[in-house]
Amino acid sequence: MKKELEIFNKIVDSLLAMEELDPVVKLGAPEDMVENFDLSVQNDPMSDADFSALIEKVVLNTPRTASRSFFNQLFGGRLGAATLGELLSVMLNISMYTYKVGGPHVGIEKEVIAQVCTLIGFDPETSGGTFAPGGSMSNFMSVIMARDAADSDAQQAGVSKKMIIYTSDEAHYSIAKNASFSGVGRENVRYIAAKENGKLDTDALERMIIADRENGLHPFLINATAGTTVLATFDDIDTIGDIAKRQNVWFHVDGAYGGCVIFSEKHKHLIKGLEKCDSFTINPHKALGTPLSCSVFLTKHKQQLVSSFSQDASYLYQGDSDDYNLGKTSIQCGRRNDAFKFWALWKSVGTKGLEAIIDQLYNLADIARDYVNNHPDYTLYSHEESTAVCFNYKDVPADSICNALANHGKLMVGFGSFKDDKFVRFVTVNSRLQKSDILEFFKKFETFAAEQF
Ligand SMILES: Cc1ncc(COP(=O)(O)O)c(C=O)c1O
Repeated sequence: MKKELEIFNKIVDSLLAMEELDPVVKLGAPEDMVENFDLSVQNDPMSDADFSALIEKVVLNTPRTASRSFFNQLFGGRLGAATLGELLSVMLNISMYTYKVGGPHVGIEKEVIAQVCTLIGFDPETSGGTFAPGGSMSNFMSVIMARDAADSDAQQAGVSKKMIIYTSDEAHYSIAKNASFSGVGRENVRYIAAKENGKLDTDALERMIIADRENGLHPFLINATAGTTVLATFDDIDTIGDIAKRQNVWFHVDGAYGGCVIFSEKHKHLIKGLEKCDSFTINPHKALGTPLSCSVFLTKHKQQLVSSFSQDASYLYQGDSDDYNLGKTSIQCGRRNDAFKFWALWKSVGTKGLEAIIDQLYNLADIARDYVNNHPDYTLYSHEESTAVCFNYKDVPADSICNALANHGKLMVGFGSFKDDKFVRFVTVNSRLQKSDILEFFKKFETFAAEQF
């Protein structure tokens, strides 16, 4: 590995320098990729020099998600301790299914899960969780557990009832896919139109559950969102928790985007009532600068987690109590070690450091929102206390300018829509950025708009 690590260090040095010098890569047309980068594989080996040059070329022409000009998706930035944990996980290459091959990393995963459960008010004795391969899959686990809890035949015999999921039309698109994967069916998801403030309409929710039950259907899961994908709005978890209890349905909170506010004294009021949920997702790979993927799925009902996901396999589970064989509660068999990097970050900065990261994201969003509010050429669409600042500038079409900014190598920022409005969706997910980076964004944006639109 010595040779490869030398190549690694050299390329990473160039990458870090380029992130500062030239923060947005101009991507050519996708059709030209194979030719532009010599991507086709051949029978004969490459020389060491050609190999190293090619790897460097590919790396340096890849979109720079940790740069100061990346505001495009709900991840970005690169926090040192978390990245160190990820790099070492790759070197160790363990699988998280058994204590026998995971060793102390099993303890690390269990510690992170226990700490987050305690933080959100779950009883550490009866709660549990796992690291899933992303927020969509964490949400999938909630559908499976809710289905099994509601219908004890579903796991063995398959789904035979009309089981219904409730969520807002602003929820993440994984809910539809998960309904399909779980045998519930996409058409059995009730999308409740979000209110003008972006939140799930709780009155409509309860009315719909009651009506469906009267019609002989089987409501079994409410999915609320803590930080919707476009507007970063928080559904009213407290009220929805009461409805779920009254109506006796599983209550999942998708906090893949915004759930990390659990670490912030200032912002955790946004998830008031979270202790009422049956399961919850956070994605440190979004708000906490941890490399993809890092998604934590938590549940109040550890027994149900085991009963929905365990499967005997004598070739694999060859010793130690199942409490330490984490494959008994995961979707996959072989499983990446996603816990080490988050634990490394948490250990290095402490809970106070995680809080500071979240607070910084909200500070940066406040700076951007103030800018938009104080400049008459802008229209704001998102709300206070949101890390997505959604706006339009003059009469410039949001989709055209976002795509043109990327094509010209100026800025990476995406667009979104809510009801009939389409707008630029500027997100603050890189806590290493400063006020000057936010102001620089608007400067570049306006200069480009004046030149091109
Ligand atoms: C609210 C919400 N839930 C779930 C997801 C999916 O997470 P992942 O991309 O890790 O699958 C996202 C992604 O943006 C999201 O915004």
